[in-house]
Amino acid sequence: MSFEKQLDKNRLPRHIAIIMDGNGRWAKKKGKLRVLGHEYGVKAVRKVVETAAELGIEFLTLYAFSTENWNRPQYEVDALMHLLVRTINKEIPTLQKNNIKLHTIGDIDSLPRDAKAELSKAIEITKNNNGTTMVLALSYSARWEITNAAKKIAIAVKDGKIDPEQISKHLFSEHLNTVNIPDPELLIRTSGEKRISNFLLWQIAYTELYFTEILWPDFGKNDLINAIIDYQNRERRFGKISEQLGSDVT
Ligand code: FPP
Repeated sequence: MSFEKQLDKNRLPRHIAIIMDGNGRWAKKKGKLRVLGHEYGVKAVRKVVETAAELGIEFLTLYAFSTENWNRPQYEVDALMHLLVRTINKEIPTLQKNNIKLHTIGDIDSLPRDAKAELSKAIEITKNNNGTTMVLALSYSARWEITNAAKKIAIAVKDGKIDPEQISKHLFSEHLNTVNIPDPELLIRTSGEKRISNFLLWQIAYTELYFTEILWPDFGKNDLINAIIDYQNRERRFGKISEQLGSDVT
């Protein structure tokens, strides 16, 4: 059986999240500047997004820039922001052709003005697409998101809009950036690092984790399919035992 045939199209994850890591090391291995790694990283983004759309994955969340990434050398931050602006602008036709809707999570207000403008434009143009939603995590960190949610709930309690007794997992989720987005079933991290780096900490409570040595610019269609096949071969028990599976998860 060819490896793509091992993919069960009826049991695809609804939401895949990816920590795209290894751009800098990829460039260094080639004796090039780190920024070139990011340029090739964009090519990998394109391949993966197109594959997700082709497969019918509902949500693909990409960790494109973390809160902590602001601490990189200024020239690298500027290059990443410039690349973001250029890429979004250039890729709008690809998003349209593949029926992809763009969405963002993170502290978007902290981005440079031109990046915010490009993102708003692309979000507006793609808003009626109903294929894959590509969620770009920009200036994002899970602790920032969770702290913000706590703050919003505290204010609502103070204003008498929420009774503290009403605070539940569900209500908390509704105050996160990912409101209306299901938790990812699969989280992929490239480049051999095995950590979560402040990404979607609330949402990945029961997510299957997949780590690969491949550096992000080398990650392509077959690698995404491989990760999904690996996910499909796992038994997700959500704290239950095998014999109980099939009943609902709380
Ligand atoms: C991690 O590699 C990657 C990033 C911090 C940025 C990811 C950005 C892109 C792939 C391009 C922009 C994306 C879009 C959607 C326009 P690293 O630099 O940490 O690599 P290293 O760990 O090898 O140093």
